[in-house]
Amino acid sequence: VKAVVLRAFGSPDNFVDAELPLPPLRHGDVRIRVEAVSFNPVDGQIRKRGLDSRPGQSMILGRDLSGTVDAVHDSVTDLRVGDDVFSYVCTLASSGTYAEFVSVPAVLVSRKPRSLTHAQAAAVPVAGITASMALKRAGVGGATSLFVAGGAGGVGSFALMLARQLGVRGLVTTAGSARSRDHLTRHCGLRDDQIVDYSESDFVAQALRRNGGEFDVALDLVGGRMLSACCDLLAVDGILASCTEGAGPADVETLFRKNALFHAVGAHAYSLSNDRTMWRRYRDMLDGFATLYDKGDTAPPAVRHLGPLCSDVVKHAHALLESGAVQGKLVAGSGAEH
Ligand SMILES: NC(=O)c1ccc[n+]([C@@H]2O[C@H](COP(=O)([O-])OP(=O)(O)OC[C@H]3O[C@@H](n4cnc5c(N)ncnc54)[C@H](OP(=O)(O)O)[C@@H]3O)[C@@H](O)[C@H]2O)c1
Repeated sequence: VKAVVLRAFGSPDNFVDAELPLPPLRHGDVRIRVEAVSFNPVDGQIRKRGLDSRPGQSMILGRDLSGTVDAVHDSVTDLRVGDDVFSYVCTLASSGTYAEFVSVPAVLVSRKPRSLTHAQAAAVPVAGITASMALKRAGVGGATSLFVAGGAGGVGSFALMLARQLGVRGLVTTAGSARSRDHLTRHCGLRDDQIVDYSESDFVAQALRRNGGEFDVALDLVGGRMLSACCDLLAVDGILASCTEGAGPADVETLFRKNALFHAVGAHAYSLSNDRTMWRRYRDMLDGFATLYDKGDTAPPAVRHLGPLCSDVVKHAHALLESGAVQGKLVAGSGAEH
């Protein structure tokens, strides 16, 4: 089995190509031939310092996959060899997804949307699930207004898509480059006047003007001064969902003044339970995305396909993510055409 293995925590240069034995099929598992993976900032955080020291953490990174079921444990009754599937494997699979084959608890595995290629489907799990968890907890719906800091990236693109599906009343996001602005208008369906340029000193005032006042919900996907901006933009009784970090003392003071709720979004939270019914929530969310795409309710996710899954491509993906200027999702693998 071909895999991209991290020899030591640190530089992207530590990724090497390796040949490894086929992963074992554990009770409750299906083994998946990986057709495509996508890349997430957490991959880079783990690469740098081994973020997650839970037992079973592998030096094969990657949490998203789309692929084909290659083997099924006797205990699994709802998936078959040959099924096209996609999954957020968390740290519960036999390894991360930068590999030709991975064994994954079947309860995490959802049928791939027929309307998406493997490369498009691989883009959905981490970013889509994170966006979905953030918006759901905040009760985002037709009557709410939403500010998204960092909307052009992976999570942001899904959050904006879901918000548009929900018919959110006021929707404003940020772009720091012409490419991000172009991505937001062409792929995320935003109007130009729903985008503010955070390099302009008055971008918070601009966002307020565009919305006609403060926002019911703010979603932070950047941290630092963007988290502070989210606090400033919130209405009284508002909800701040942060995917990045906690609020510092000044920001907490702002939140107190607004009686605001702070949601520390932890997409991996359900995977930390020993209760497999919690894990099942990920599959349920992916089933929801599959329905959305297959009904034609929304356009496929925007992906940039970097090439086959090998160490050079993984190094490139990590460098791009660290440049902080990714639009949509970066993917790799052989699954670009089907
Ligand atoms: N807590 C969780 O469970 C969870 C789950 C998934 C992701 N995350 C975190 O959420 C964050 C976003 O993830 P992602 O996958 O969407 O990342 P991403 O695809 O790399 O997107 C990040 C976006 O942020 C924008 N950005 C970068 N630097 C900025 C700055 N200084 N000011 C304003 N915007 C800036 C970029 O757009 P521009 O071109 O407009 O600058 C980029 O599109 C990451 O920190 C990730 O680790 C957390």
